[in-house]
Amino acid sequence: MIKVKNILCIGAGYVGGPTMAVMALKCPQYNFHIVDINQSRIDAWNSDNLPIFEPGLEEVVKEARGRNLKFSTDVEQGVKDAEMIFVSVNTPTKTFGLGAGEAADLQYWEKTARMIAEVSESSKIVVEKSTLPVRTAEAMSRILKSNSKDISFEVLSNPEFLAEGTAIQDLLNPDRVLIGSEQTKSGLQACQELVNIYKEWVAAEKVLTANIWSAELSKLVANAFLAQRVSSINSISALCEATEANVEEVSLAIGTDTRIGSKFLKSSVGFGGSCFKKDILNLVYIAQSYGLQEVADYWRQVIIMNDYQQERFVLKMIKNMFNTLAGKKILILGFAFKANTGDTRESPAIYVTKKLLEEHASVIICDPKAIESAKIELKDCKGTIEYEIDPYKAAEECHAIALMTEWSSFKLLDYAKIYKSMVKPAFLFDGRNILDHQEIHKVGFNVYPIGKEALTN
Ligand SMILES: NC(=O)c1ccc[n+]([C@@H]2O[C@H](COP(=O)([O-])OP(=O)(O)OC[C@H]3O[C@@H](n4cnc5c(N)ncnc54)[C@H](O)[C@@H]3O)[C@@H](O)[C@H]2O)c1
Repeated sequence: MIKVKNILCIGAGYVGGPTMAVMALKCPQYNFHIVDINQSRIDAWNSDNLPIFEPGLEEVVKEARGRNLKFSTDVEQGVKDAEMIFVSVNTPTKTFGLGAGEAADLQYWEKTARMIAEVSESSKIVVEKSTLPVRTAEAMSRILKSNSKDISFEVLSNPEFLAEGTAIQDLLNPDRVLIGSEQTKSGLQACQELVNIYKEWVAAEKVLTANIWSAELSKLVANAFLAQRVSSINSISALCEATEANVEEVSLAIGTDTRIGSKFLKSSVGFGGSCFKKDILNLVYIAQSYGLQEVADYWRQVIIMNDYQQERFVLKMIKNMFNTLAGKKILILGFAFKANTGDTRESPAIYVTKKLLEEHASVIICDPKAIESAKIELKDCKGTIEYEIDPYKAAEECHAIALMTEWSSFKLLDYAKIYKSMVKPAFLFDGRNILDHQEIHKVGFNVYPIGKEALTN
């Protein structure tokens, strides 16, 4: 039986960093070591300028770092020292070969598993923290157990349900924690070791245990269901615009039905983020590989609807700005895929910006936390792209504003002042439906919300 004292996490990203920091905060009796092959990321974790923005993260890291939390690039030593290893490396969509564009690219995962098998000198519990296709643990177990040493490995699946922007709150107070294990004596013992860690701050009834395949599949299904709700309400937003119904009224009317519930029913330009699209595509691929074509088609439609919503947004801009954007300057207000994060992965702002550039518009990008990431996302784009952190300066001489991220600071801007500095007629396309459209219309803007009547002058 493996007794855990030293815990390693491989991968110091959006999941590994916050997850281990909160565990270290809540479990001072364990030592936590987070490793990554990316030296600059580790340097940032060891500095006052953390590599990711997440409300509350800085305070947690400051308290635990140097006490029972450390960050380094010493992956192999970290493996040797640990009894429990979380693997939180990236699992992007495969871009080549069989399953390209759908299946998860497991090369980082497999390399990590082989490295663990090679350098380990004692038995370990390996925890899948990354989101993985169902039955990955089987492959992991085979790789780990193929070592010729007299040591054993137990593989657990502990998918992470945190949402960026609220990661610390989600980790401190999770709806549930899910741990999957093999249903053998040693598998269940390993599971109990991880349960003991979570029980330090999570109520026992919220720590769910399951068989390992259910745990792996549940993470994909959770993301698929969340994204499905967004695509469902977005499909209705198109119908609202065609019929003069109001998507917010529809959303309230259906969301107050306790059987449906109100969350994830906000219509927008579409969902983004590193997970939803890749995890649904992964689910689609898995369904297909088991010959379940109807199941695959059903979930693929969630992605198709999301693509459609982004495309519809750009078409609406072109149509309402007299069918030409050439030479016009457009403010992209917000570039992060959601508020309270600097993460721009799969942000709808990327698609919208690229399409506007294709129409020969010039764009200026404004975001309180995501300008540096935006520069990386758009580095290969041709056309005029400027970046400006001050929304008032950014709006000067613009023909239109495309609001892409629901930052609360955008609600507080003085739109009368902004309107004055813009080219007339001035247009505002609210891709997140967060502004007071009547007020902004009164100021002089032509306002185009999502799923609601346009307010034109
Ligand atoms: N971002 C989220 O909101 C979220 C939420 C839940 C689950 N997940 C899942 O968690 C996993 C990680 O996501 P993320 O957003 O933290 O990714 P990320 O890209 O921010 O971080 C992954 C880190 O792993 C490191 N890495 C890759 N190979 C390595 C190796 N061999 N050794 C050491 N380090 C290595 C990378 O350098 C990177 O810093 C993914 O499977 C993702 O689907 C993400």
